[in-house]
Amino acid sequence: MASRTQPKRVLSGMRSTGKLHLGNFVGALDNWVRMQNQFDCFFFIADWHALTTDYADTSQVKQNSVEVLLDWLAAGLDPDRCTMFIQSHVPQHAELHLLLSMITPLGWLERVPTYKEQRDNIKEKDLGTYGFLGYPVLQAADIMIYKGDFVPVGEDQVPHVELTREIARRFNMFYRVRGVEVFPEPQPLLTTAAKLPGTDGRKMSKSYGNTVLLTDPEPVVRQKLKTMVTDPARVRRSDPGNPDVCPVGDLHKIFSDRETNAKVDVGCRSAGIGCIECKSWAADSLVQVLKPMQERRKKYEDNPRLAWDILEAGSDRARKVASTTMNEVREAMKMSLDYEAPTSAQGAQ
Ligand code: TRP
Ligand code: SF4
Repeated sequence: MASRTQPKRVLSGMRSTGKLHLGNFVGALDNWVRMQNQFDCFFFIADWHALTTDYADTSQVKQNSVEVLLDWLAAGLDPDRCTMFIQSHVPQHAELHLLLSMITPLGWLERVPTYKEQRDNIKEKDLGTYGFLGYPVLQAADIMIYKGDFVPVGEDQVPHVELTREIARRFNMFYRVRGVEVFPEPQPLLTTAAKLPGTDGRKMSKSYGNTVLLTDPEPVVRQKLKTMVTDPARVRRSDPGNPDVCPVGDLHKIFSDRETNAKVDVGCRSAGIGCIECKSWAADSLVQVLKPMQERRKKYEDNPRLAWDILEAGSDRARKVASTTMNEVREAMKMSLDYEAPTSAQGAQ
């Protein structure tokens, strides 16, 4: 068997939430786009994970997965440089999830911070299910089945990657192939990007309804920016403001060039510019970032088959890797598909 050498493998996933927003881009996607040039990247859409909360109505799941894929392609993920696929198209994830569920102590899952948090926060859905508790076990299977070295994630997901390391360690302790461990312990790669504020000043998030979508046309972007909150101390046009405490100021820092930032800083602090003008500059910067994405996306929107073909090719590649791992897992657990004569099995311990 050929041993895997450089480059290191990167694995990450996003739930199928539908159209992505600028917060998804700045927090994760732009990082993935850079990584595809340095690593052997596997990026997938976690539609089974979406079911842990959306199980009662699955009508949007598939369409949402496609929307995520289109936004990935728009942002610059390139099927020639990374492997993109949908989780449920690679059933080996479910097989490994089952086996890992056998060795994962309940206490480990009950202690995961997102578990309690989400059960407390999402009141409108019954999250008292087996699948919801097992969310991080499925995530561990996602990572382990590709023997991922690095997992780029936001801070909230770090406990899941840490749990994956513990599950991998426990598996390696119980089962080996001729003394050799099957799974490496993956490392989280924390994305350190500044949190992107939404139009209401809170973190940009679909659940707050304060997003700018990657697909928003220019007039929508401008309209959303017009309603964005600003430095609350700047009530009148003549009041000086402070871009460091203003969400629009944060947008400038992330998306505008140095020259614009300098104009904003001086103009805001001296009340030399108004917020309306300042916001229109921020909108200019956003539109500049979004335009090339929307142009790339159009190609796939006009020909959706193209995007689906990319997924199918990605799933093929992913299934090959996943089934190789599953063969090793079966061998390690002494449950391989190979015929073994009953007599030789009897004497073995
Ligand atoms: N739980 C992740 C999220 O909500 C999505 C995810 C599923 C994931 N499987 C993964 C991320 C494996 C990294 C690796 O964002
Ligand atoms: Fe914010 Fe710009 Fe207004 Fe200053 S001028 S308060 S940075 S919107």
